Amino acid sequence: HTPWPGLIEAYRDRLPIGPDWQTVTLHEGNTPLIRANHISEITGCDVYLKVEGLNPTGSFKDRGMTMAVTDARARGQQAVLCASTGNTSASAAAYATRAGMTCAVLVPQGKIAMGKLAQAVMHGAKIIQVEGNFDDCLELARKTTAEFPTIALVNSVNPVRIEGQKTAAFEICDALGKAPDVHALPVGNAGNITAYWRGYSEYHADGVTTSRPRMLGVQAAGAAPLVTGEPVRDPETIATAIRIGSPASWNGAVSAKEESDGAFRAATDDEILAAYRLVAATEGVFVEPASAASIAGLLAAREEGWLDSGLTVVCTVTGNGLKDPDTALRGMPHVEPIPVDPVAVAAALELA
Ligand code: F0G
Repeated sequence: HTPWPGLIEAYRDRLPIGPDWQTVTLHEGNTPLIRANHISEITGCDVYLKVEGLNPTGSFKDRGMTMAVTDARARGQQAVLCASTGNTSASAAAYATRAGMTCAVLVPQGKIAMGKLAQAVMHGAKIIQVEGNFDDCLELARKTTAEFPTIALVNSVNPVRIEGQKTAAFEICDALGKAPDVHALPVGNAGNITAYWRGYSEYHADGVTTSRPRMLGVQAAGAAPLVTGEPVRDPETIATAIRIGSPASWNGAVSAKEESDGAFRAATDDEILAAYRLVAATEGVFVEPASAASIAGLLAAREEGWLDSGLTVVCTVTGNGLKDPDTALRGMPHVEPIPVDPVAVAAALELA
């Protein structure tokens, strides 16, 4: 039995990695594909969750970051920089410190979940809050790294990020023994939908699979430029991870949608929160709000008849629910503590 070596070693022949490069890894990837029994029942489909919140820093970003930091170190760069709504910064901070590199992150002021900020702090990143949104942060990161080329830009505009993230599609096909019929995922900066489509397309081109899924990209209604067809100047949503108005991988997302005969959808914050609670309460999988957009979009697509029954569907749930405890606990009623007494416990459970 060989322990999982991380996705670079597992898929080395499909990744742009030099033969003598030393990989920077936290053994990311190989995340579980869990059947969503309740959601399968209500949709009449065979629905699986690709639980990316079980990566080392709690999101799918680790797949891209093992590649980006390995690549940066091989090129002799000493620092990494990213713009982030939180998960990219947590991941960049962890992989950079593992590589002995400096990490700086540009985050939109007051708009990232607490857990993500805590991670970047603990891994020793230089955290720079910007008076602006993610799109402003990304533009700033691009300009800075263009002017200072010794700093590696580790956002998904870095092509090796996409290469790493495409491995999630390989894992899904390897686990199912085929490609799914439909793949739903949340879309913000649109790197991940681009990456999945590349992964599915490569397996298909090489004859590993005989089909490719229809891609369903779900955005938050207040930040849905791909749905409306134009950038959103002031994106707003409770799903801060995907609060993005001008996706960098716009073209990649449109290709994925068009080549797969897929769709973009918007989910309102209420729909996102309902799906967020549903997946936690019925499937036992705690994801962050942005991740639940994929489920919200899938349920709405099913109701509208976009999705036939009996299909095999994969929903990527991109980040761990522990990243954002504030949203989970918001509106929770105050409950008085009880005395140390079994009768009081039974009473609290309304059994007595
Ligand atoms: N889900 C989560 C939990 C995310 O953190 C992100 C992106 C997405 C979905 C969307 O993925 O951008 O590839 O379309 N988070 C980035 C960040 C922007 O900075 O952590 P995408």
